[in-house]
Amino acid sequence: MSLPADIRLPEHIAIIMDGNGRWAKQHHVPRQSGHAKGAEVFKTIAKYCESLEIKALTVYAFSTENWSRSETEVRYLMKLFREYLDDAFTMDSNSRIRFLGEKSRLPEDLLALMKKLEDDSSSNDGMVLNIALNYGGRAEITGVVRKIAEDAAEGRLSVGEIDEQLVSSYLYTAGLPDPDIILRPSGEKRISNFLLWQCAYSEFIYMDVLWPDFTTDMLDEAIVEYNKRNRRFGGR
Ligand code: IPE
Ligand code: IPE
Ligand code: MG
Repeated sequence: MSLPADIRLPEHIAIIMDGNGRWAKQHHVPRQSGHAKGAEVFKTIAKYCESLEIKALTVYAFSTENWSRSETEVRYLMKLFREYLDDAFTMDSNSRIRFLGEKSRLPEDLLALMKKLEDDSSSNDGMVLNIALNYGGRAEITGVVRKIAEDAAEGRLSVGEIDEQLVSSYLYTAGLPDPDIILRPSGEKRISNFLLWQCAYSEFIYMDVLWPDFTTDMLDEAIVEYNKRNRRFGGR
């Protein structure tokens, strides 16, 4: 499948990359293999979005709640992030890479790698590639509330200045349009603490496919589905 020429492309696509564990189970392989296959798919989809000239792609890689998984799984995921960040993003890409999430619990060497990628890609002028790693929507909003309170207490801001635009400017996604599409493969129909503020008027697209089986054709399908939606933003 390829996209019709008159298609309206979304500016910002957000994806909850879910279903790696179930994929592994289906294939009778360790959960790790599901995550590894999922990471490959991420690379393919990021490249594809870049080729479509999508303005921003945000992917959910690890949530603040995912720490509750087994130590082995968490350790493996951190190893996978390290490998991918080291490898995949030295690829010829013009994307600006940004990490959304709390830096606190992540291993030092991974944090250093994340910082290097953000710095090295900061002068690129292609797609913004946001990787949500140790991200939670509630944690993000709580952090914003704290920062606004500090700025107000220290006189950098007056309470009267606090409006929706100001709140948006304190988020990890400051300066970007809200996601037009939030795509969740795996068959689950929930938000799982992803982009809680930014999803106010996003179109939700749920797909019955596990993330490691996700293809560029399926992304096309999602964009076609998005084109059928009538976005009203509360108007008529
Ligand atoms: C998504 O796949 C990857 C992460 C959350 C890190 P899952 O590991 O949640 O896969 P399922 O949902 O168990 O199939
Ligand atoms: C959401 O998936 C987080 C990521 C894909 C990184 P989960 O698998 O953690 O979400 P729940 O537990 O099904 O809500
Ligand atoms: Mg899951």
